[in-house]
Parts: sequence; structure tokens; C-alpha cells
Amino acid sequence: MANLNSFAESGADLELVGIQKRFPGFTAIENVDLTIPAGSFFALLGPSGCGKTTTLRLVAGLEDPTEGRILIGGRDVTDLKPHKRPVNTVFQSYALFPHMSILENVAFGLRRRKIDGATEKAHEALRLVELDHISDRKPAQLSGGQQQRVALARAVVNRPALLLLDEPLGALDLKLRRQMQQELKQIQQEVGLTFLHVTHDQEEAMTMADTVAVMNKGRIEQMGAPAELYELPRTVFVANFLGQSNLFSVTVAGGTETVLHTDFNGSRISLLRSRTERNAGEITVGVRPEKLRLHREPPAVDAGVNVVGPGRITDVSFIGVSTQYTVSIPGSDDVQVFAQNVEAGPAAREGDEVWLSWLAEHTFGLADDRLDTGALTADLSTRAIASQAALAE
Ligand SMILES: Nc1ncnc2c1ncn2[C@@H]1O[C@H](COP(=O)(O)OP(=O)(O)OP(=O)(O)O)[C@@H](O)[C@H]1O
Ligand SMILES: [Mg+2]
Repeated sequence: MANLNSFAESGADLELVGIQKRFPGFTAIENVDLTIPAGSFFALLGPSGCGKTTTLRLVAGLEDPTEGRILIGGRDVTDLKPHKRPVNTVFQSYALFPHMSILENVAFGLRRRKIDGATEKAHEALRLVELDHISDRKPAQLSGGQQQRVALARAVVNRPALLLLDEPLGALDLKLRRQMQQELKQIQQEVGLTFLHVTHDQEEAMTMADTVAVMNKGRIEQMGAPAELYELPRTVFVANFLGQSNLFSVTVAGGTETVLHTDFNGSRISLLRSRTERNAGEITVGVRPEKLRLHREPPAVDAGVNVVGPGRITDVSFIGVSTQYTVSIPGSDDVQVFAQNVEAGPAAREGDEVWLSWLAEHTFGLADDRLDTGALTADLSTRAIASQAALAE
């Protein structure tokens, strides 16, 4: 539609090329290269302060990069003013105009740009978020989730080639949040625009996005489809930030062409060579809690199975669908085991001696080490250092 000037009917690629952002005395973005294909739902996931909002502000044109270029639909927009970019942003605080009706809120931007059929387009956007039946209400007469949907309609109505969402569900309670996640995903598929969604909620990122980029300290540590990141994390940070992991410090002790054998305290932990970042010396390997099985007797030795133990159960938490066991194993951090409650009641009790087994093929080998403090938050690492110091004394 020609009268939508810079605004699009379909999504556009976003490319960040060698982006760096330095504030006086602080580098918020170290070096980010990123390509988001048109029409995809991309999530930028990371802890507070890692540079997510800064990245969005750079794309929106609210900040200038210190280095690097930003391309939207193949066009270099680095030097364009924010309103010239085919981008809309939904912020966490969505600030609707309180004195205007829902319909007027959504039509506002179109009217200001003197676009024909603003009212009809606003109704259409409100139908998309299923609020058209209350389009004459004022924002104060809506629930938080409904206001959030109005904010979304207000952004989508402009048909931005690229929609930026900065923790847009942050203000909602958990149940509504989960519901909105599904709706947002559905809307994205319906309108076919490119969504760049920022969140620190790993479940949110995994359920919604086609591609997740895990960001840490101004860098992207790993990027991929949610299941791929979950099953094969490459760093300690990703292994712990995206779900939980059990990590073991091991020593490589040979192997075959396809399998690497390692030694953990006298037990053999094997993994596929194709699933490890390193294959010599001291390395860190991991396995997800739901991949582990508990045994009350030492399990039979089997080539494709890793066994560690004995250890002792120190905690049993019954969660309904599953039971979460904490097992203390000499030479490792506490190990978490998630077991589905197929039988009634927990299969083992606190204090029980147990062995753990898992398929060797579920093991992953990391690029860095378990004890690197990078994996811990500032608070935790100070605590860890303090307790290590206490142990050393
Ligand atoms: N204008 C600024 N001047 C100096 N430092 C800044 C400025 N804006 C942001 N920063 C710093 O850059 C880092 C990244 O900030 P950013 O807002 O991008 O984090 P975030 O990942 O969005 O975090 P959150 O999840 O808490 O919203 C932070 O350490 C922040 O203090
Ligand atoms: Mg932020």
C-alpha cells in the first residue's frame, strides 16, 4: 500500500553487523552479529543488564551504535531517524492515552500520518487481538492483559516490517502471561511480520520463538532453535540459564572415532564427539535432569550408558507431574533428577543410597568450565568465593 510510505505489508530481514555500543565508561554491547530472517519470531534472552534493551534501542534508532551497521530488508538504516525506520516498539510500560477510547488509541498513529481508512484499519487490528467488541471503552476500563493487547494492536496497525517487543508481558501475572504468549505467537503467524522479542524468561523465549539468542554481558553466547539450544548447550552459562543442567568436571581418557570417554572420580562418562566443544584434558560435561534415572542398586554396565554413584538423596520434592530429587555425589555439585510420576508416590526417599544412569548420547561437552565464575550472578560468585576462601582456611 503506497500510502503507508515506509511501512510494510510483510516482514523484513534484520541484520546487525559488528554492532558495538559504548556508553561513557561502560560497554553495553561488545560485538553483536545477527541476522533475523523476514517473518520469523526471534527472542533475545538474557539476564538483567546483559544489553537486551540497548540492542532494541539501537534497532529502533533511539541510540546510535559506536561501531557497526544495522540493515532492515537489506537497506542500511544506521543513519536514519527513528520515525523513518519501518519499526515499531512495544515497551513494558505501554502508556495508552487515558482520555481516548481504545479505538482512538489504536487509530492515533495512522491519523497522525494522515493514512486513509484509519478507523477501519484500527477495527481490523482490534479484531486481531479480539477486543473490537469493546473498542469504545477507555483504557482504565480494561484489565492489564487487555491493555497489553491494545498496545500490541496499536503497534501492529502500523504494519511495521519489524516489531520490537521489550518484555511486553512483564507486567502480567503468570497465567495471563502464558495465555498472552500463545496469542502473541498466533498473531505473529497471522500477520507474518518479523518479531524481535526481548525477555529474561527462558520459558517464554522457548515457547514463542523460532530462534533464541542467549545474550550474556553484551555478547550472544549461542543462538538456535529452542530445542537445539536446550539439548546441546555450548557454554556453562547457556547450560544453566536455559533450564537446569548437571555439570561434571572430567578428564578425557581416550575413546573411539565417534565416542569420547572421560573419567569422573573413577566412573566413566562417555559422550559423542559430535556433541562436545573440547576433546582433550580437563573438560566440563553435562546432562539435563530429566535424562537421569535413579537406581537403588548399581545398574549393570552397558556401553551406551553412563553410571555415576553411589550418592545419597538429600532432598525429595513432589511436584505433581514429577518428583525432583537432589542427590549428593562426591566430586560434583548436587545433582538434580526429574522423574515423572508414573507410579504413585516417589520411588526413593531422602537418605537413600542411589546410583544415577543416563544414555551416553544425552551428554554434552562444554567450551568452558564449571568453576568459571561467568556462570554465576555477581551475588552468587561473591558468596562462592567467600565459601571457597572459608574452605581453604
Ligand atoms: N545511557 C546509558 N549510560 C550508561 N550505561 C547504560 C546506559 N543505558 C544502559 N546502560 C548499561 O548497559 C547495560 C545494558 O543495559 P540494558 O538496558 O540493555 O539491559 P537489559 O538486558 O535490557 O536488562 P533488563 O533485563 O534489566 O532490562 C546495563 O549495565 C546498563 O546499566
Ligand atoms: Mg531491558
